[in-house]
Amino acid sequence: MSSGSLRGKVALVTGSSSGMGRAISISLANEGAKLVCCDLRKEANPTGYESDIAISTVDLIVQQGGSATFARVDISSSEEVEAAFKKSITEFGRVDILINCAGYWAPFRKFVEEDDELWSKMTAVNVLGTARMSRLAIQQSLEQNIDSIWGSRGRIINISSCAGHFGFPGEVAYSSTKAAIDHMTRSGALEYANDFININCIAPGVVATGMARQNFENQDIIGLMKRATPWPRLGTAEDIAGAVLYFCLPQSQWVTGQVLSVDGGMTIGVTASQ
Ligand SMILES: NC(=O)c1ccc[n+]([C@@H]2O[C@H](COP(=O)([O-])OP(=O)(O)OC[C@H]3O[C@@H](n4cnc5c(N)ncnc54)[C@H](O)[C@@H]3O)[C@@H](O)[C@H]2O)c1
Repeated sequence: MSSGSLRGKVALVTGSSSGMGRAISISLANEGAKLVCCDLRKEANPTGYESDIAISTVDLIVQQGGSATFARVDISSSEEVEAAFKKSITEFGRVDILINCAGYWAPFRKFVEEDDELWSKMTAVNVLGTARMSRLAIQQSLEQNIDSIWGSRGRIINISSCAGHFGFPGEVAYSSTKAAIDHMTRSGALEYANDFININCIAPGVVATGMARQNFENQDIIGLMKRATPWPRLGTAEDIAGAVLYFCLPQSQWVTGQVLSVDGGMTIGVTASQ
């Protein structure tokens, strides 16, 4: 691991065991951050596309010379979320960066086939979980000093979805919760800009992860996704990690409240025929 731009910083990443959360954790560790890897389980989602899927994110970071600890957290549980922050303070003394990457998605279905149970789960994880993690990160940041080189007291980066930017049939509940995360980003950023706490968001397009495997293996769905994505390929977890890293670096200290689409151009307009 390098002695990079995030040396001395402590980053807490939810959904860190698989897909984007894993790529983000590794990328922050590569820049010198110490990682608190939060997930339902330590092992990667077995349906993921990671080439080194047999090794956990934490073990991979430690093997490469970085610092990381695992916290078993369901972000829909207040107790487990609080315990993760306590673990970060006990083991590393602080929390500088929070990446809210854990999310819940369910296969496409008609609006009328969505029930209260699905909406409750989507809301509990995607909205309440993200808000709960953010509140604790803000409280902790307010107890820490401003780093004059980094330019911040704390950073939060949320992961929403392109589905929150335009209507998408088959995922009314999911897209609604992701739109809520976009707006949580803007409103939260406004409240805490004066405290030097940056809150930004990445809205990914179609990315090859375990969560999306069903879609990748369905020729009709993936054909539609490819036609809707102007760039000649779909996304990787590393595409998202690169954009998240920018929001963590000193260079982005004057950027807050932004929702950046990282989606191969999916949300910029109507694609030319392909
Ligand atoms: N893959 C895509 O195409 C895509 C597109 C847009 C947005 N997203 C969003 O990206 C984020 C990351 O998803 P991914 O595609 O990397 O999926 P993934 O399945 O590879 O990883 C998700 C990780 O989150 C963990 N997780 C799920 N619920 C959790 C909870 N309640 N508490 C703690 N951890 C939990 C899982 O165990 C898993 O390790 C999600 O918020 C998802 O909604 C994904």
